[in-house]
Amino acid sequence: MKTAIYPGSFDPVTNGHLDIIKRSSAIFDKLIVAVSVNRSKTPLFTVQERIELIQRVTKDIQNIEVVTFDGLLADYAKQREASVIVKGLRAVTDFEYEFQMALMNKNLNPETETLFMATSQNYSFLSSSVVKEIGALGGNLEGLVPNEIMNEIKMKLK
Ligand code: PNS
Repeated sequence: MKTAIYPGSFDPVTNGHLDIIKRSSAIFDKLIVAVSVNRSKTPLFTVQERIELIQRVTKDIQNIEVVTFDGLLADYAKQREASVIVKGLRAVTDFEYEFQMALMNKNLNPETETLFMATSQNYSFLSSSVVKEIGALGGNLEGLVPNEIMNEIKMKLK
């Protein structure tokens, strides 16, 4: 069984994340969506809230598991026997940082490969930070986040 892991902050999950989740879950037997506990960032949503939002928008996808992880991704991938780390690439600007992380993760856990998936063109401009800024300033979030969680995100940003 081929298991992949898609890690991130998902604060909150966007249509760009959902696009990567749908496309990568179609490639692997199992996809673990892993919400990081990043102690250096102050998230808008708690880990539990972020997990619930992802679970809600992925309820129709059978082969995914939404979890949280603390510590090194390379260790968590090993613990879960995930042989692939999936990362979405939006633009060249993502590449340098992602490339560094891919090499570091390979160094830490040589059994794991990083697979870069190009984000669909519609979402190349999209990030959780942009969503938070637009939402906080009263802008329209339609098309940026899944409809079923839009109100919850707006409420949180009020
Ligand atoms: O959505 P983000 O914030 O870009 O996700 C970043 C994430 C969670 C993938 C990255 O920070 C990560 O892998 N964190 C776990 C800690 C770790 O393994 N750090 C070393 C990376 S080489």
